[in-house]
Amino acid sequence: MSKLVVLVSGGGTNLQAILDAFPNQVISVIADRDCYALVRAANAGVAAHLVDRKLYRDELSERINALIPDDCDLIVLAGFLSILDSQLIQRFNHKIINIHPSLLPRHGGAGMWGIKVHQAAIKSGDQESGCTVHYVSEEIDGGAIIAQAKVIITPDDTAESLQQKVLAHEHELLVGVIRKLLSIN
Ligand code: GRF
Repeated sequence: MSKLVVLVSGGGTNLQAILDAFPNQVISVIADRDCYALVRAANAGVAAHLVDRKLYRDELSERINALIPDDCDLIVLAGFLSILDSQLIQRFNHKIINIHPSLLPRHGGAGMWGIKVHQAAIKSGDQESGCTVHYVSEEIDGGAIIAQAKVIITPDDTAESLQQKVLAHEHELLVGVIRKLLSIN
């Protein structure tokens, strides 16, 4: 049975999609702040750890690293907002994936998260946006792209409506990628 660890910072709708699709494979959920995703983990009976980014600052990655066993098959960043250090990224080379709510390389990089990503897409006059699942490398949002899903931006879209449209596609894309990656592991 594959072992998944999911890192979260927010509402955890992507986490929920993973828990629903792989109910026996998520061995732990790690959050960098108190968030509703931790409640979802608890409701699913999955071990949940809070490693507070404000408390641990430079030690955050080290503490997260210590919580992940060597035999973990895949680490999924599902709305995780802290930056992981190179030690952790190298330890799990090509075993850490992230979901980003735009068609990377558009609207990615430092500071591009949450509603800001969708505001940028609207402001740029983009006619389409979407979401990207990619490997995590040391460059923020710069690792190899695994899969993308597109949505059309309509003239009446706001950043908020676009965020909802994109989020609806994220769950399916992320679950599909995890399924594929685990079947070849
Ligand atoms: C998603 O839009 C994801 O792409 C981004 O953060 C958001 C998390 O949403 N990285 P949720 O916590 O999974 O509901």
